[in-house]
Amino acid sequence: MSLFQNYKRIDVAFVRGDGCRLYTAEGKSYLDFLGGIAVSSLGHSHPRLVQAITEQAGRYLHVSNLYRIPEQEAAAERLCRVTRMNRAFFCNSGAEAVEATIKLARRHAAKHNLPPTLLVAQNGFHGRTMGALAATTSNPKYHEGFAPLLEGFIATPLNDLPAALAKLDRVCAVLVEPIQGEGGVLPAEAVFMQGLQAACKAQGRLFMLDEVQTGIGRTGNWLSAHGMGLDPDVVALAKGLGGGVPVGAVLARTELSELLGPGSHGTTFGGNPLAMAAVNAVLEAIEEQDLLTNVREISELLKQELSKLPGVVGVRGTGLLLGVELGCSADRVAEACFERGLLVNAVRPNTLRLAPPLVVGKLEVAEAVAILEKALCEQTVKSP
Ligand SMILES: Cc1ncc(COP(=O)(O)O)c(C=O)c1O
Repeated sequence: MSLFQNYKRIDVAFVRGDGCRLYTAEGKSYLDFLGGIAVSSLGHSHPRLVQAITEQAGRYLHVSNLYRIPEQEAAAERLCRVTRMNRAFFCNSGAEAVEATIKLARRHAAKHNLPPTLLVAQNGFHGRTMGALAATTSNPKYHEGFAPLLEGFIATPLNDLPAALAKLDRVCAVLVEPIQGEGGVLPAEAVFMQGLQAACKAQGRLFMLDEVQTGIGRTGNWLSAHGMGLDPDVVALAKGLGGGVPVGAVLARTELSELLGPGSHGTTFGGNPLAMAAVNAVLEAIEEQDLLTNVREISELLKQELSKLPGVVGVRGTGLLLGVELGCSADRVAEACFERGLLVNAVRPNTLRLAPPLVVGKLEVAEAVAILEKALCEQTVKSP
C-alpha cells in the first residue's frame, strides 16, 4: 500500500454513483445519507453538474489568477447574491477558507490596533492546516505532536454568552460554526449568536462564521446564518459549494475584502475555471430545483421518523445536517447500517451524523429509516 495511512477507511470502493446511491463493482448499492461528509449537495452524477464540468474541461481548465476568469466573476456574483454578502475569494478547501478568514482578522486587528487574537468556540472544528488547527478544539488528538501551534486563539464555551462577551476585549474577531458538525452536530443557539454578533458590531470586532459544513443549502437556507437572523461580516464556505469538486470560498463585506489587497493573499488553483463551472452549476441547480424547500420538508419528515425509532434518544441539527443521539454505540449502528446498504457515520460515541444530498426524496427517507430501525433493533438484541 503506497498511501499514507492517515485515514481509517472502511474496506469498500465505489465505482459509480447516481442521485443518492453509490454502487460497488459487484453491483451492491448503498443509500448515501452522508454525502461524502456534507459535500455531494446535488447527489451523484447530477446531469447539470456533469455537463457543466465536462463542457468546461473541453474549453479550458486553468489559466491562473494572473488573468480575468469570467466563470469566477459569474460564480462570485451569484454566490454574493444568494448569500447577501458583497465579495467572494475562492480557494480549494474548508481549511484554506478558514486560513483566509484568520488572515483577514489579523489585518483588521492591525488596522484598528486590536489584539491579533480570535475568539473560537470550545469543541469547534475548523480544519487541519496550522492556523485552522490552532482554532480547532474539538479533539486534543488533532494537536498531538504538532507543537508549536499558531498563537492567537482563545476558546469559550458554545452558547455561554456572558463568558464569550467577557473575552471580547481580548480579541479582534470571533469565528464560530452555527452548528458544530465534527464536534457532534451541536447547534449554536440563535440567542447566543445574535448576542455575540451585536456585541461584535458594537465593539468593532469581526463576527465571522465557519459555514464550511452548514452553508449552501445544507440547513434549508443559503447560509445557516439566515435561519438564525444573523448578518455576519465574514463567512467561510467549502464542502457542498462544488457538489464534489474541491472548492472553498470566503465571503465578506466590501470594506473588509479590501483588507486583503493585491499581493496580500492568494492560491494558484483558487477559483479555477473547472471549480467555478461546478459552483455555478450547483448554485443554479439549488435555485431551479428549489432545493431549499426540499431540504426543509425532508428535514421535518426525517426528524419525525427518526424520533419514533426505538433506541433514538434525540435528534439535533437543522435541515439536512442531523445528529441522531442513540442509547447505544453509534459506531456499531453505523456498521450495521453499512452492512444493510446505508451510509451514515458516528460523529460521537453515541451520535450518528446524517448529511444526505439536498436532492434526497421521501422514498429514500423511508428506506433509510427502515434500515436504521433494523440496525438499531439488532444492536438492542445484541447488547447485554
Ligand atoms: C466547520 C468546518 N470547517 C472547516 C473544515 C475543514 O474543511 P476541509 O476538510 O475542506 O479542509 C471542516 C471539515 O470538516 C468543517 O466541518
